[in-house]
Amino acid sequence: MAKISSESQLSNVLVLMADMGREMIVADRCTVWLIDEANEELYTTVAHGVKMIRIPYGTGLVGHAIATGEAIVIEDAYDDPRHHAENDRKTGYVTKSVVTIPFRNHEGRTIGAYQAVNKMTEAGKFTSKDLELLSLAASYAGKSLESVMLHQEIVDTQREIISAMGEIGEIRSKEMANHVRRVAEYSYVLALRLGLSPREADLLRTASPMHDIGKVAIPDAVLNKPGKLTEEEYELIKSHTRVGHQLLKGSRRELLSAAAIVAGQHHEKWDGSGYPHGLSGADIHIYGRITAVADVFDALSAERVYKSAWPIERIEKLFEEERGRHFDPAVVDAFFAELPRLIEIRDSLADES
Ligand SMILES: [Fe+2]
Ligand SMILES: [Fe+2]
Repeated sequence: MAKISSESQLSNVLVLMADMGREMIVADRCTVWLIDEANEELYTTVAHGVKMIRIPYGTGLVGHAIATGEAIVIEDAYDDPRHHAENDRKTGYVTKSVVTIPFRNHEGRTIGAYQAVNKMTEAGKFTSKDLELLSLAASYAGKSLESVMLHQEIVDTQREIISAMGEIGEIRSKEMANHVRRVAEYSYVLALRLGLSPREADLLRTASPMHDIGKVAIPDAVLNKPGKLTEEEYELIKSHTRVGHQLLKGSRRELLSAAAIVAGQHHEKWDGSGYPHGLSGADIHIYGRITAVADVFDALSAERVYKSAWPIERIEKLFEEERGRHFDPAVVDAFFAELPRLIEIRDSLADES
């Protein structure tokens, strides 16, 4: 899901670039091509009047421009053996004049190309002025495109690290890895229902798997002790909130800051009887209040090695009783409103036993 929203960010930039190029030099169509190194192909996600196209690396006019790093300007594509006429044949479009300009990242490496097709003036051919204008656009575009792609890379990497780290905490405490995935999805659904923006709901979804990361600091003997815990051992377990918060709070990154809040506050209670700080009401961050509901719901509704799942009626009763005590009443209301959806998520992300 996150992938989709960020990909659309990239294609927004591509559409913008294509529009800008087309208008600037009065072309009929303008396409932004990128290199897919893994598959040795060139592709475009947006092309005026056409859907996504992929061609083998090095073929066609655009392939030549990218391979050589040199711009190409021609009056009639059909006079040029480098023209890849297959797409014209498929679509019935007739390519005539073409200008193709590679663009580079800030290290000077070619990362794609602009291609404008069919000059719309009477003369019907691109001029050296067009080449100059499009080159200028390409030099800006290459850099902004690169920063969008890099940003994407960083966001994806953060997500992966976060869910991997979340799993470590859970696996050590003999919970199933799917626990963190379910908590993530429950948190997302509840956040949207509570009126958080889709962006913020998505942020919480990515951050909430980290809620128990602080458990990495607790010895196995205590974490997985079968019998009753001593007072000291219980204090040690409770420390996972402080430890988790401590681990994550240093980052200026939005995602890790959200994860720090979740790790630090998911055991706080609305009435102030939770830990580690005994915060109450709206002093507990909404992320903490949502994750608390998601985490408890999953603990009760999922089967564990050492216990069977509670029947839904019993869970409903508990949430009714704890509305305004353990949990924020508004989050409990959201929980009831979304219960069918939450059960669907539970079933689709069940742990295999
Ligand atoms: Fe916890
Ligand atoms: Fe948990």
